[in-house]
Amino acid sequence: MAFERVGVVGLGTMGAGIAEVFARAGLRVIGVEADAEALARGRGHLERSTGKAMDRGKLAPGQRDEILGRITLTTSREDLRDVDLVVEAIPEILDYKISLFKDLDRICEPETVLATNTSSLSVTAIAAATGRPDRVVGMHFFNPAPVMRLVEVVGTVVTAPGVVSDITALAGRLGKTAVAVGDRAGFVVNRLLLPYLNQAAVLMELGVAGRDDIDAAMRLGVGLPMGPFALLDLIGLDTAYEVMGVLFDETRDRRHAPSPLLRELVTAGLLGRKTGRGFYGDSPPKEPVKSRLGTFEVVGSEGDGARGDGLEERLRAAGFKSSGDPDVVLRLADRPVIEHAVRLPDPARMVGVHLVGDQVAELVSTALTSEDAAAAARDLVKIAGLTPVPCKDRAGFVVDALLFPYLNDAVRMYDSGYASIEDIDAAMRLGCGYPAGPFEMLESFGLARVRDGLRALYAEYREPAFAPAPLLDQLVIAEVSEFPRR
Ligand SMILES: NC(=O)c1ccc[n+]([C@@H]2O[C@H](COP(=O)([O-])OP(=O)(O)OC[C@H]3O[C@@H](n4cnc5c(N)ncnc54)[C@H](O)[C@@H]3O)[C@@H](O)[C@H]2O)c1
Repeated sequence: MAFERVGVVGLGTMGAGIAEVFARAGLRVIGVEADAEALARGRGHLERSTGKAMDRGKLAPGQRDEILGRITLTTSREDLRDVDLVVEAIPEILDYKISLFKDLDRICEPETVLATNTSSLSVTAIAAATGRPDRVVGMHFFNPAPVMRLVEVVGTVVTAPGVVSDITALAGRLGKTAVAVGDRAGFVVNRLLLPYLNQAAVLMELGVAGRDDIDAAMRLGVGLPMGPFALLDLIGLDTAYEVMGVLFDETRDRRHAPSPLLRELVTAGLLGRKTGRGFYGDSPPKEPVKSRLGTFEVVGSEGDGARGDGLEERLRAAGFKSSGDPDVVLRLADRPVIEHAVRLPDPARMVGVHLVGDQVAELVSTALTSEDAAAAARDLVKIAGLTPVPCKDRAGFVVDALLFPYLNDAVRMYDSGYASIEDIDAAMRLGCGYPAGPFEMLESFGLARVRDGLRALYAEYREPAFAPAPLLDQLVIAEVSEFPRR
């Protein structure tokens, strides 16, 4: 089926970007908003986004006019009567979507394909509300739609196979890569991404680490394009909250229950970028306590599974003295630091150091670490050219505690038969801009290291979902270092 005229309903964070994507590919677009005020906001999104592209030299002024010229804005759904496809991007609330789809079913020609951009809701339930369930699909774009290359195309048990392939071909025409999947809450990307974002909020509430430190750890330590709190602000906390709720309803997995902090911010109307404030947008971070830099000692070794990467040499080169009676004992850490600290005459001086990538040092304070020692360790690793991430002495510290359960979820998803390794990897790279997919990450970290890290997380938090996926465990036992590709 050739799609030439497309309707987009809802021109918020996603809809405006989706309208732009279609218009850039030469399709005519009718954008529908709820009222005149929202329509003006939608127009603003379109003008700003294409304006930025022009300023960056990615669009010529004439091209921008052509793109905007292909988009007609209206507050009347009835204007959608002649379109070939409608993509819905209104809020993530099933009742709203069902009522809209009933109306679209009445307004549009019988062959028009109706697509939802839902992140998590049942496409099957939305389809069943219409008289054309075989022509209803999920067409799930990623934020920001003009930039992110992935589209998840969601078929249900009643979708006509031709419709999924037509929408997949359309995604290609838009310059996107499509991954076709079945109808499960969260599909591939949000099923893997949202629990990780939620867990970041939980870690912050538990006081394991602060907002900026968690974001820095994931950005600089793992190479993700943004940290979890910056990403939650971009997604919109209300949308993230709704998606978590839908995931929880389907899985009853405690980790999918939206963090209480998320609920509080949403109730307060702090929704992230769209309202100017969410996790960010408040007062600037507090100035850290000043330290008295003195002598140090680095203890622990590669033999413990810890990484030093020349920390001691770097500190000496920066002019600091190591000493037998140091002010700070930096313990290269791979397991509870407190176990080492209690063996020292003065446990208050010990700070655990866990290097992540080549830029980040997680600095682990135990229940006994003094503020002076923590502050000195922070300043020392800064001088050694690393970004300090102060955190509590909890299994996985920050990065492994957030990353390993996500990798484990990906293994379980593959093992359940929902999606292939190639599709899961591609979805996370293209949908989230990650430098590597979860299986690529697992293989580069080493399967045994991730399995052992998950065991430690499970032992500490007793969270069933942290127990290593059986497939991961078996590959480690069989001493296989790569996942079986098709
Ligand atoms: N935010 C993200 O990162 C993201 C990513 C992918 C998919 N999604 C999904 O896209 C959908 C929209 O999310 P969003 O983040 O763009 O929300 P949003 O709140 O930014 O925008 C929703 C828009 O829909 C409009 N609207 C509400 N009711 C309407 C109606 N009856 N008719 C026309 N317009 C109406 C609102 O005025 C608003 O502009 C959700 O299903 C969400 O799960 C969001």
